[in-house]
Parts: sequence; structure tokens; C-alpha cells
Amino acid sequence: MEGMGGVVAETPDFCPPPLSPRMLPFASCLPGSLLLWAFLLLLLGAASPQDSEEPDSYTECTDGYEWDADSQHCRDVNECLTIPEACKGEMKCINHYGGYLCLPRSAAVISDLHSEGPPPPAASAQHPNPCPPGYEPDEQESCVDVDECTQAIHDCRPSQDCHNLPGSYQCTCPDGYRKIGPECVDIDECRYRYCQHRCVNLPGSFRCQCEPGFQLGPNNRSCVDVNECDMGAPCEQRCFNSYGTFLCRCNQGYELHRDGFSCSDIDECSYSSYLCQYRCVNEPGRFSCHCPQGYQLLATRLCQDIDECETGAHQCSEAQTCVNFHGGYRCVDTNRCVEPYVQVSDNRCLCPASNPLCREQPSSIVHRYMSITSERSVPADVFQIQATSVYPGAYNAFQIRAGNTQGDFYIRQINNVSAMLVLARPVTGPREYVLDLEMVTMNSLMSYRASSVLRLTVFVGAYTF
Ligand SMILES: *[C@@H]1O[C@H](CO)[C@@H](O)[C@H](O)[C@H]1NC(C)=O
Ligand SMILES: *[C@@H]1O[C@H](CO)[C@@H](O)[C@H](O)[C@H]1NC(C)=O
Repeated sequence: MEGMGGVVAETPDFCPPPLSPRMLPFASCLPGSLLLWAFLLLLLGAASPQDSEEPDSYTECTDGYEWDADSQHCRDVNECLTIPEACKGEMKCINHYGGYLCLPRSAAVISDLHSEGPPPPAASAQHPNPCPPGYEPDEQESCVDVDECTQAIHDCRPSQDCHNLPGSYQCTCPDGYRKIGPECVDIDECRYRYCQHRCVNLPGSFRCQCEPGFQLGPNNRSCVDVNECDMGAPCEQRCFNSYGTFLCRCNQGYELHRDGFSCSDIDECSYSSYLCQYRCVNEPGRFSCHCPQGYQLLATRLCQDIDECETGAHQCSEAQTCVNFHGGYRCVDTNRCVEPYVQVSDNRCLCPASNPLCREQPSSIVHRYMSITSERSVPADVFQIQATSVYPGAYNAFQIRAGNTQGDFYIRQINNVSAMLVLARPVTGPREYVLDLEMVTMNSLMSYRASSVLRLTVFVGAYTF
């Protein structure tokens, strides 16, 4: 039994049930759907069930009364004036003995509620109750317990739970509430550090919450890391769970977008022009080097000439010789000797001394082929000529007899039996030169002079490799 506050209950549209003699009706059926009826459990001199042992005269008054030394009586407290916001919202506060009532402002109030004098004593009930307090007779004239809680003839505060007892009832605080003064007040469980991360107090209970990236453990209090990677984290490529969060990463060749989730291809080719010797091709997550026709990739970035004559990719006939050069090949006639020259070996043509037409001609022509790349730095030694037979006292002179109209080459004599063909200017292919390199052999008496020619074909490739 807690407090003596007045009680207002809203119930369906019916009149109050019969009352025990100790109870006094204060209200009757009110018009409209709203039926209000109220009971003041404690009247002057009438004790509540739990207070029944208290002495008749005392200087300590029950709740709702205060001791008046002048009159030597307990005097009703006007809670409507002393309790701030005694009634919430639209309810109006009606003071009464030992308590107060909250009624809708529209409700009609029986004038008894306002009377200053004590209400008529409970004993004035017309039908004396033969049963003990808290019991009432049923049809069989036996005493049955009155459920004060369901009949709303209790004085539990709205914050309290009413529990019916045999012959009595009890007002208790719900779970999660404790009594402070007359009222049940929510316990702030969050003050007791029940939660690992965050605590949210709720009326009558509490709830633990976890920081983002964590979830409540099985005990509903501790927080455990969420593996976002298993929960559909929006990483486009790779996801790494970490304590409380996750990180997106990208595969090699991709970089993480500013949004932290998506990956975009890295254009490696834009980084450097030296990644590939010829052409860099960006691909998703990687790049590759390409080579021009006639070349193959060496390792990853270099281009190497394909020797079509070696690989058999050429289409030269039996009567032809395959000549490889940078980026391609050439089929040349095996016999390139032109009258009056006659072929004496694969590359060598001789002008027979017996033939009068050969008197002013080089006695032999030897065919040779070579290949250089474009844009070589100059001067560059490209070919060395060597006299094959050395005669005592003989002297050899070398010169470019034909094919050097633009002066792209010159001859540097090394000694009297050899010389070097030198590229004088940077040349760009594809192009080819046919140079006649002449070696003139004389003896010291100048009584002997012989000329032979090395017909050198120089292929200049299209590239610098
Ligand atoms: C945790 O909370 C859930 C949902 O409220 C409940 O079903 C479960 O019994 C609680 N577990 C514990 C250990 O309190
Ligand atoms: C040419 O060189 C050879 C060998 O080095 C030598 O025997 C000969 O005397 C040289 N001739 C002249 C004219 O220098």
C-alpha cells in the first residue's frame, strides 16, 4: 500500500460496482462515453487496509495530510497547489481529502468533491457488509475476496502496479522502477555501466548500443566487431576487415577511387614513355608492350627483330637468297652477276681478264648485305673492309665508288689492308643504299694496279631498334 493519492480511472460505460461499506462513492455515471468514477480510499478517520493498525491519535499524518498543531488534527494538503504539475496535460486538478483527482476539464464534478467538510462516513452504507475487510458476500452469502485492482478501488499511483491480495491489495513499483517519495521513478540503469559502448535508458529498462562497426554480443551488453567484409561491404575488389571498420583495397594495376570503395584502372602507359620500347597498351589492371611488324617482344618491353630467314617465315625461292634486315627480309637472286661478269661463287662475280670489256672494270664484285637501325648516333663505324690477300710491298687504297650521292657515308682507312665504312649522318628508314666500296691495290713501283669492288647493300630499318 503506497500513498494516498486520488485516482482517476477511465473505464467502459458502466456504473460503479457495489462498494464495501468502508468505501464511499464520489462519482456517478457521467454523461457521454467517458465515465469517470473515483474513490477516495482514505477519508478522515478511515484507514487504508495496510494502515489499519495505526493508532487513532497520532502526530504523524498519513500521506496527503499534514499535522495542524492548532487544531491537533491532521489537515488535508491541497496537492493541486503544492505538487507542480499534479495533473498532466488537459486534466484539471481537484483537491480532496488525503489526495487529489485529475479529471478532464470537460467533466462535470459532483459538488461533494468541493465540499470542505468531511464526506459522509463509509459506515452510512445502507447494506451492512457481513464480511471482513476486503471481502464481500456473493450470491451464496459467502465472503469472497474483492479484487480492488480490477475494480479500481485502490489508491495505487499511476506509476505503480496494483496487485490484488486476499482481503487486500498492494501497490508496487514495476521492474526497472524504484520508489522515490510516493512515486515510482524509472531507474537509470545506464549509471551502472552495464554496457560496453553506449547505454540508452528506457522507461523501466535499458538497452546497450554499439558504435558503428560493432554489434551487440550474445549477452546484449558487450560489443563485438562486425566483419563487414562478410556482410556485403561495398568494396569493389578487396575487403579487409579491421577492428570496428573495414578497408577496401584494389588489385595490382588498379587504384582506389576517392569514394574508398571502387577501383579504377591505372593507365600505366601514361606514367612513362620508357615502359615499352615501341608501343604501350593499357589494359584492365595491367599494360603490355607491343612491337611493330617484323619484331617480337623480348622479355617484357624490348622489341627484337625477327630473322625471317632463320625462322623459315620467308618466301624466297630456290634460286634466291634470303637476306634479313631490321623489320623484314629480302629475297635476292643468288646469281647477281651481270655480263661481262661471271659467277665464281655465291656472292662473287669475276670479270675475266681475257675479256676486252673487262679492261676498265673492277676485276671482281662481291655482294654483301647489312642492316642498320634508324637514327644511329654519328659518326658510326658500320662496316670494315679487309683485303683478303696481302702481297709484299703492295698498297691498298679504299674509296666509295658509287651509291653515296648524298654523302651519308665516308671511308676511314685503317691501314694499307683494311678500312672502315663510317655513317656520317643520321639516317631514317625505311630505306636502302647500295654502295660500291672499291679497293685499289698497287705495288710500290706503281707498275701494277688492280681494282675490286664490294657491293654493299645497307638496309636502314624504320625504327631505332
Ligand atoms: C538479448 O536481446 C534479445 C532481443 O531483445 C533477447 O531475445 C535475448 O534473450 C537477449 N539475450 C540476453 C542474454 O539477454
Ligand atoms: C702495307 O702493309 C704491309 C703489312 O703491314 C707492309 O708489309 C707493307 O710494306 C705496307 N706497304 C706500304 C707501301 O706501306
